[in-house]
Amino acid sequence: MSWNPERYLAFGDHRTRPAVDLLARVALAAPARVADLGCGPGNSTALLCARWPEAEVLGVDNSVAMLAKARASGLPARWLEADLAGWTPAAPHDLLYSNAALHWLPDHATLLPRLVAALRPGGALAVQMPRNFDAPSHVLLRAVADDGPWAQRLAAGVLRAPVAAPDWYYDLLAPQTAALDIWESEYLHVLEGADPVLDWTRATALRPVIAALEPAEQARFEADYARRLRAAYPRRADGRTLFPFRRLFIVASR
Ligand SMILES: C[S@@+](CC[C@H](N)C(=O)[O-])C[C@H]1O[C@@H](n2cnc3c(N)ncnc32)[C@H](O)[C@@H]1O
Repeated sequence: MSWNPERYLAFGDHRTRPAVDLLARVALAAPARVADLGCGPGNSTALLCARWPEAEVLGVDNSVAMLAKARASGLPARWLEADLAGWTPAAPHDLLYSNAALHWLPDHATLLPRLVAALRPGGALAVQMPRNFDAPSHVLLRAVADDGPWAQRLAAGVLRAPVAAPDWYYDLLAPQTAALDIWESEYLHVLEGADPVLDWTRATALRPVIAALEPAEQARFEADYARRLRAAYPRRADGRTLFPFRRLFIVASR
């Protein structure tokens, strides 16, 4: 199940916008040690390097393709190939930052407290994750998955909704933190092209599904999904498509 950095960055502005909004709520003045968890091609890491040029910045990801793109950016950061499910920083960090990555990992009840425990006193964990698993883009993905000869194979976990409600994260992290700032935003992405929502999900939610299908099934799955997406996200009079997208933000200060 490999990532395609070019396909991901085709919507680069839309995908980096929440990274900017998350960073705006991090109040640290001069963190010495900063890590970008699930750094991808380095688009979010670039924001961290620009804000704190003096900081030691580490980008962590488990995709070789994404890390190759990040390394090629020339950013003044170190890059580490690691699975965040088992990764703990060697030394305490001032900021552990993660934009659009931790929803790919299970067991937030263990993962997030472990990350908070890896902060220096006064440090912060800043996380943004999509919470749009009830949106047509995901509901229809599950509907097509349930509707074909692939139903049994796809039922095995590729379409889970791993992000809990905001108050669940509050209860989880409050005992460990001095301050918690949690909010949601729904972006209204204005997209161009014939099947823009399909193109969007091809780089993210659709990837594990396609990876679980035989080559002959992949085109059939995409065609059915595209047809349903066109009905759910009709083109506007100006030819563009509106894609509402809800995201959850957490800034937990130790
Ligand atoms: C949607 S991209 C986000 C990229 C970037 N942070 C941004 O703001 O656009 C998600 C990234 O998380 C990484 N990722 C997913 N699961 C991971 C894991 N278990 N360990 C490390 N990285 C992971 C993926 O390889 C991918 O590069």
